[in-house]
Amino acid sequence: MLVFGYFLDDIPKAYKGVAYNIHKLTGLTIFVLMILRAFWAWINPKPKLPATDPSWQRLGARIVHLLLYVVVIAMPLAGWIGSSAAGKPPRMGDVQLQLPITQSKALTEVAFDMHYMLAITIIVLVSLHALAAFYHYFIEKDNILQRMLP
Ligand code: HEM
Repeated sequence: MLVFGYFLDDIPKAYKGVAYNIHKLTGLTIFVLMILRAFWAWINPKPKLPATDPSWQRLGARIVHLLLYVVVIAMPLAGWIGSSAAGKPPRMGDVQLQLPITQSKALTEVAFDMHYMLAITIIVLVSLHALAAFYHYFIEKDNILQRMLP
């Protein structure tokens, strides 16, 4: 979605409408899945990080994990608000998935500025998250990465 979203504007005119709609519907699917996932994570607390890890690392991990949920929920929401405020909501056949908000150029601009800034925030957070996982695997040589397996 990050790469596809970035190149949306470069898609040939004939396919643009379809491409934007695919982006919007995929984003809405991610939104619904993330809400379910957040609920799942809330009722199924995951194992704690090893007590031997420095407390700043454990705190950092908790903050990054929490922020990942927040931004991946906020991202599609910003896109949905922006598209609805622009009067171009996602479409499923003849059904328009329009949010109950009035059309506004100012709101469209704010929402898509947020959409852009959230994209950069997601890239930064995912990079930190992946670097930390590799640090555990290659340098600490603990089982943080493998314990995600069943
Ligand atoms: C996890 C979900 C999503 C991700 C990761 C994502 C990612 C992106 C990215 C990286 C861009 C390019 C930003 C830019 O260059 O300004 C973009 C553009 C766009 N996205 Fe999303 N998006 C998501 C969900 C949605 C949803 C749900 C909608 C609408 C219902 C939406 C509507 C749009 C539109 C209309 C643009 C073009 C904005 C413009 O041309 O200024 N996105 N998206």
